[in-house]
Amino acid sequence: MSNRLQGKRALVTGGSSGIGAGIVERFRAQGADVVNVDLQDGEVTADLRDGAQIAAAVATTVERLGGLDLLVLNAGRPAVGTLADIDDATWDDTIAINLTSVHRFVRAAWPHLQQSRGTVLLTGSVVGLDGSANQAAYCASKAGVVMLTKCIAIDGAPHGIRANCVCPGFTETPMLETFLADQDDPDAVRAFATGLHPVGRLGTARDIADAFVYLGSDDAAWVTGVALPVDGGLLAGI
Ligand SMILES: NC(=O)c1ccc[n+]([C@@H]2O[C@H](COP(=O)([O-])OP(=O)(O)OC[C@H]3O[C@@H](n4cnc5c(N)ncnc54)[C@H](O)[C@@H]3O)[C@@H](O)[C@H]2O)c1
Repeated sequence: MSNRLQGKRALVTGGSSGIGAGIVERFRAQGADVVNVDLQDGEVTADLRDGAQIAAAVATTVERLGGLDLLVLNAGRPAVGTLADIDDATWDDTIAINLTSVHRFVRAAWPHLQQSRGTVLLTGSVVGLDGSANQAAYCASKAGVVMLTKCIAIDGAPHGIRANCVCPGFTETPMLETFLADQDDPDAVRAFATGLHPVGRLGTARDIADAFVYLGSDDAAWVTGVALPVDGGLLAGI
């Protein structure tokens, strides 16, 4: 137990699984008071495709915590397919969950973040910074998250609000397993994905969550508008 987030009140989306579960665990270990908002097994249940449910989730969380210091928008879904073959329903669902929900959450939470001079933290992806084969909708949604991070940072700075984004490389979570299961040869894709990371292994939820702890803490008081790759060197170069 340490205290880098002592006294911070945090809403985390997608905290029931994978990276989000890691964030919830690490935030609590660092002294934060956390509410997990998720479609399943959350302390507050909400479907991120529904703006009314997002507004209600923010209101319930603020009431429970007595305010809001850290808004962590982590939940997301993968989407396999090129622009030539992805169907409308998959495109719309991916953009709704991964990108539009950021707008809805930030709008609902803004007065509370102004009051606390709080921080917005987002989960992007290395494929929001570089393109990737056969996941066009997902890449577009994560590139949007990276850009919204910068816009929130600029618009929030006069109010003392910071915004930063963590861009994970391939990380061992149920989402990665789903993504791999959708591939023609999952073992080959896993081996290929592992080989993309110079450190020679896939990431863990803990690897990613510890970057969130830093960016949510007062140690990062002068860091805003950043998209930080946490990727075992994947984006460092060839
Ligand atoms: N795992 C990776 O390799 C990887 C890499 C880069 C970025 N990411 C991003 O990290 C984030 C977390 O991914 P993960 O791998 O931990 O996934 P995960 O599938 O393990 O967890 C995602 C969580 O989001 C929740 N969720 C999904 N749709 C929702 C909805 N409509 N409303 C409410 N909650 C919803 C799920 O219930 C689940 O608890 C995502 O934004 C993902 O795009 C993951």
